[in-house]
Amino acid sequence: MRWKVAIIGFGNVGQAFLSLLKDKRKQLFEKYRLEFDVVAISDPIKGSIYNGEGLSLEKITQLLSSEGHIKDYEQGERGWDSIQTIEKSNANIVVEATPTNLQTGEPGKSHIEKALNLRKHVITTNKGPIALYYRELSKLASQKGVFLKFEGTVLSGTPAINLIMESLAGSHIEEIRGIVNGTTNFILTEMAKGKSYDEALKEAQKLGYAETDPTADVEGWDAVAKVMILGNVIMGGNLRVEDVKRRGIVGITKEEIERAKQEGKLIKLIGSVKREDGKVIGSVLPIEVDRKDFLAQVGGVTNALTIKTDTLGEITIVGPGAGRIETGFSILSDFISIHTTLHRF
Ligand code: HSE
Repeated sequence: MRWKVAIIGFGNVGQAFLSLLKDKRKQLFEKYRLEFDVVAISDPIKGSIYNGEGLSLEKITQLLSSEGHIKDYEQGERGWDSIQTIEKSNANIVVEATPTNLQTGEPGKSHIEKALNLRKHVITTNKGPIALYYRELSKLASQKGVFLKFEGTVLSGTPAINLIMESLAGSHIEEIRGIVNGTTNFILTEMAKGKSYDEALKEAQKLGYAETDPTADVEGWDAVAKVMILGNVIMGGNLRVEDVKRRGIVGITKEEIERAKQEGKLIKLIGSVKREDGKVIGSVLPIEVDRKDFLAQVGGVTNALTIKTDTLGEITIVGPGAGRIETGFSILSDFISIHTTLHRF
């Protein structure tokens, strides 16, 4: 069986996934007997192209670097929108990598629903649909007998979601707490070294950490989405956006950071979910953390999550939480996981 992949949303993440596929084609076959064609890419800015026999990943990469878009790719149908691509292409797996919208979950939610209804597996890095509609989407996926995977929504490619859901299955998760936004951790780390907020933000955008609209990061919305995913998916909660107590890092001054430093502390944006009176509650707040505290050692774009369980006590995961390749890798990891689950022998 040869996988037919459609990539919906061809920004940093979609492109990084494609470049991993291109570089690892041989390894994926040798190690997992995983064979694939990328049959479609659809993006309102970069362009859309479909060829059921498979696109040349080399040609796509060349076009991207020479033109900045793929609209001139010749061998195939051009200009299909995302929904047409999901409906009309022969893809059996849809990679949904469009930007997060935490108010509506769109356009990701419609993409995912459409694909699942057509019995196509879905891998998404889009936090909106999972934070807001996980329950109905996962129900739909199981009714249709296909996978819905979303490792990249929390801690990018650093194992978090699959690790907790699979390797910690059977444990009761009591609390999850940590640094879940790379951009703000990067900004706070740079500010602690003396940079201004604006300088640090610009650098984070240049490095591809920040969301398309950085207010999602600096006002804490991106972290809220991740807290909702952890609370609703992992802990079975019912968190809505307005239930998560939130304060971002906007307005934190160099002076505040300096004062905290003098008291042996660092300001960190901490996301947390826990159970209280039988309910899952969540928050995203800047907190002064003692320099000796483990979370104070987690600098730059690195994220960390401490998971409190009834079986193993506390487990901490530390790793990159943002970035092109890091998030692109989460899709590859989900892809291999779907493949090996279906082709176990
Ligand atoms: N902008 C996000 C971050 C990327 O900085 O953590 C991953 O959601």
